[in-house]
Amino acid sequence: MIRLEKISKAFGGQVVFKDIDLTIEKGNTTVILGPSGTGKSVLLKHIVGLLKPDSGRVYLEGQDITDLSGRAREPFMHRFGFVFQNSALFDSMSVYDNLAFGLLENHLCDKSEIPARVARELERVELSGIEEKMPAELSGGMQKRVGLARATIMDPEIILYDEPTTGLDPLTTVHINRLIARAKEELDSTVVIVTHDVKSALEMADSIAFLAESRMVAVGSPAEVCANPEPLLQEFLNARGDVCEHRPTDDDHAEAQAGR
Ligand SMILES: Nc1ncnc2c1ncn2[C@@H]1O[C@H](COP(=O)(O)OP(=O)(O)OP(=O)(O)O)[C@@H](O)[C@H]1O
Ligand SMILES: [Mg+2]
Repeated sequence: MIRLEKISKAFGGQVVFKDIDLTIEKGNTTVILGPSGTGKSVLLKHIVGLLKPDSGRVYLEGQDITDLSGRAREPFMHRFGFVFQNSALFDSMSVYDNLAFGLLENHLCDKSEIPARVARELERVELSGIEEKMPAELSGGMQKRVGLARATIMDPEIILYDEPTTGLDPLTTVHINRLIARAKEELDSTVVIVTHDVKSALEMADSIAFLAESRMVAVGSPAEVCANPEPLLQEFLNARGDVCEHRPTDDDHAEAQAGR
């Protein structure tokens, strides 16, 4: 559905990445995984055209959209839903107005239909009835869920999530991941998730792309990526022991009982 071909980007003299290739299959969940500061958010912004590459091409269903901007880009932008890393809600607007904004701006539906569409999206993220609340009145997890609803209200074909679970507790993380999977199924969309949360990546992904040190170090299914001996990747995957299956051994149990 989306193909990035030899994408390079630098800011000033600082190279973020060089000659990145990535194919995002229609209907799949692709996870872009990698350490902080390696350019995951920058890469995501190239897909939707918020940033332009210094070199390389971006294709959407075979069509080169790299250089499209303004009016020419609009029809393509409607196909994307983007969930920003920091939720990026408008602080001075209610939840209702945050969700209605995109529909109104893009004249995507009749004004009279908006309340029902806002209610439908809030139901999808299990936050029914909070239309009149302001973002500051919501917890971080709720703000993320409103961010999800704001992206899905446009019925996008492709939904891109930038760090949807970073900074959330494990239960809220599981909840958000479930909502992402639900929205994908209900909208029959293609999903791209940027994260440095290995556990979520392994659970959610059909395909994982591991970005580090300015290059695409590994791409494959979760099983293929886990079996890939590339040291940078293995160090990252195993930096936290809680991700790998760890079962207490008989010795562990005996030791615990002896200490009781
Ligand atoms: N608009 C910009 N102007 C200049 N430099 C930028 C800009 N956006 C990103 N960068 C730089 O590009 C690099 C990659 O940033 P990016 O935000 O993509 O990292 P990331 O992998 O998403 O990190 P994190 O996991 O912390 O979100 C960083 O060094 C950042 O400072
Ligand atoms: Mg980022």
